[in-house]
Amino acid sequence: MSSPSGLGPLGVTLLSEHLVVAKLGGEIVAMRDRCPHRSAKLSAGQVVGADLQCPYHGWKYGASGNCTHIPACPDGPIPAKAKVERFDCQEKYGLIWVRMDSSFDCTEIPHFSAADNPKFKIIIQEPYYWKSSAERRWENFTDFSHFAFVHPQTLFDPNAAQPPLVPMDRVDGQFHFVYDTPKGMDVNSLAIIGKFSYVCSMPFAINLSSLKYSDNTTSVLFNVSCPINDSETKNYFIFAREKHDDSDWPHIAFNDLVFAEDKPIIESEWPQYLPDDEVSVITDKVSMQYRKWLRELESAAREGKEAFNHALNNRVLESDRTYPQPGPTF
Ligand code: FES
Ligand SMILES: [Fe+2]
Repeated sequence: MSSPSGLGPLGVTLLSEHLVVAKLGGEIVAMRDRCPHRSAKLSAGQVVGADLQCPYHGWKYGASGNCTHIPACPDGPIPAKAKVERFDCQEKYGLIWVRMDSSFDCTEIPHFSAADNPKFKIIIQEPYYWKSSAERRWENFTDFSHFAFVHPQTLFDPNAAQPPLVPMDRVDGQFHFVYDTPKGMDVNSLAIIGKFSYVCSMPFAINLSSLKYSDNTTSVLFNVSCPINDSETKNYFIFAREKHDDSDWPHIAFNDLVFAEDKPIIESEWPQYLPDDEVSVITDKVSMQYRKWLRELESAAREGKEAFNHALNNRVLESDRTYPQPGPTF
């Protein structure tokens, strides 16, 4: 929240839509950042009591989005159309999640495996901005064959350029795959090199849990690429450490270093959206599978709720891992 009150309002852009987030009457609310009166941005206003007040003529809006007060005509009727559109909004893991379209009612807040587990210390790092699409950022985070080139010595041995082909399972809207990184690499001691287990809630979240070879402890990196628009992302990053008897700062600085190594390259990829003319090889399996699932979701979304639900939740297993039975279908 941007104001000293901690109640907001905060203006954000998500999927090219301008939104305002505020805490009204104890409830976190996300609404379109546009006053129905003369279209001023509500995020430039203020929270007054349980209402959000527009900065231009002082109209007030409650948590429902309905106008509650018009200072210029306090006794007159409030027009029925004096209502700001609201979006589904929830706080979880210390982040605020907004669902722009709830018409299919089948998408959930992504899975973060360290949440509520007392053995972890959880650090919400500063969000970082990249001039790249959320898809490009996702692919970079899960790209095995760039480690040796973009992160030599930081994360990886530059000679370990040949990644394995891993089975990828689609389970309840998530990709699951495991990569045992090479053992014995000479890398920064802060690198969490070990057995990498990925659980990636489609389309833009990654939960990377690593069982570190050097000390047998688990760390979890949780990254969500939030699409500001087709070519910009604000990335939210939560870092959880099982072993935490030392300072957080070297670890935070190390994560920032790794991202700083990636950023200029990912921002150089053009176009920023995923085109269909890129050349892939077999070791690009993760991104190829990701693109395939995105395409399936996109075309299913055009067909409607049922098709989308199926495309998202239908299990496709390549490995022999077992998973809990799915919950109720929507
Ligand atoms: S534009 Fe918001 S009150 Fe007039
Ligand atoms: Fe990287």
